[in-house]
Amino acid sequence: MMQRRLQGRRVVVGISGGIAAYKAIEVVRLLTEAGAEVQVMMTPEATRFVAPLTLEALSYHPVAADWLAPQGAGESHITLAEWADLIAIVPATANSLAKFALGLADEIVSGTVLASRAPLLVAPAMNDLMYTHVKTQDHLKALRARHAAVVEPGTGRLASGKSGVGRLATPERIVAAIEAVLQDRRNLEGLRVVVSAGGTREPVDPVRYVGNFSSGKMGRALAETAAARGADVTLVTTVPTNPEGINEVAVTSATEMLAALKTACSGADILVMAAAVADYAPDKVAAAKLRRTDQPMDLHLRPNVDVLKSLGPHRGLFRVGFAAETEDLRAQAQQKLAEKQLDLMVANQIGVDGQGLASDFNAVTIVSPSGVVAEVPRLPKWEVAGQIWDAIDAVRNRGG
Ligand code: CTP
Repeated sequence: MMQRRLQGRRVVVGISGGIAAYKAIEVVRLLTEAGAEVQVMMTPEATRFVAPLTLEALSYHPVAADWLAPQGAGESHITLAEWADLIAIVPATANSLAKFALGLADEIVSGTVLASRAPLLVAPAMNDLMYTHVKTQDHLKALRARHAAVVEPGTGRLASGKSGVGRLATPERIVAAIEAVLQDRRNLEGLRVVVSAGGTREPVDPVRYVGNFSSGKMGRALAETAAARGADVTLVTTVPTNPEGINEVAVTSATEMLAALKTACSGADILVMAAAVADYAPDKVAAAKLRRTDQPMDLHLRPNVDVLKSLGPHRGLFRVGFAAETEDLRAQAQQKLAEKQLDLMVANQIGVDGQGLASDFNAVTIVSPSGVVAEVPRLPKWEVAGQIWDAIDAVRNRGG
């Protein structure tokens, strides 16, 4: 999947001394695989956790680990600082964050960060007590205020053996955030985004439901892309996968989805309603499992709640709908946009093999009240997600 999206981009990866240093190896590998040119610098402590030779082999460059080592020309931290399109610190320890925030420079990594004017990205990893300490949080705040991108750590088992916040973000998340910074697309920083995903399941009895073929993949791609672009994301989904760095709320029926979205949308900036809500639900839910007989069975369906309509327009909430259509794509999309008073509608043609529901690919037409904003050809869903966020950004900021 990591095609040459970072071709020609120069990334300096700084490794500081924590146990998560070994995960930086995978980040360097993914970056070079994506086409980036990578140089690695390591604090003296980091070289105790992983061997510079490994990083040298994967980055195709000598590793800068000792800034006092005599070398042919120039100073290594200045050379690296000027070479970088971006500096990514993976992992960033509490100590290194403090040094960056304060402007200390006592080894190659902090020295290069201080000397460079390239965008800085930090992926903190440390014990939860150190991460949640007010000083560490102050330093992160100071770095954010200077436009550093922070890839929040995940929650899970830490080196201490107990569970808590402080695990280094996955290499994929880190690389996605690096890509967003390099493409100048950290534009959702500070925004609260809500995405709905998956097909709702309307219960018939305790074991059966009425549903649809939606896989929740488009919604998840939208949520992950928004997180990579810096948003605080809540994903309300019928297909939970517990994605790192995203607040996930698992729901089943449309009624549950509406309740979860009401909560999630209060104070949110953007709602993207990618879920396929069942238009009809069984009139009655049997309390006990329905038995098979030889007779035909009638299932009486009633119109379901319209989630988007019931949520209504909120002040300050930019609302995006999805329309899956088999015919008259644009006209239908325009009509639904007006009916549901949306800011943007993403329409996709279904019934075309190899795209749409349950597929990994999609092709969409994005429509605003003033007309077609973008036509996205058949692409992997995560790339479509990127273009949808571009369109949302354009319409939010420039009104079309
Ligand atoms: N939607 C919703 N609640 C429903 C049905 C749809 O909130 N009960 C939302 C979907 O999540 C989507 C948008 O409305 O963002 C349009 O969905 P779609 O099913 O295409 O529209 P409908 O109004 O249900 O029209 P149709 O008759 O084509 O099903």
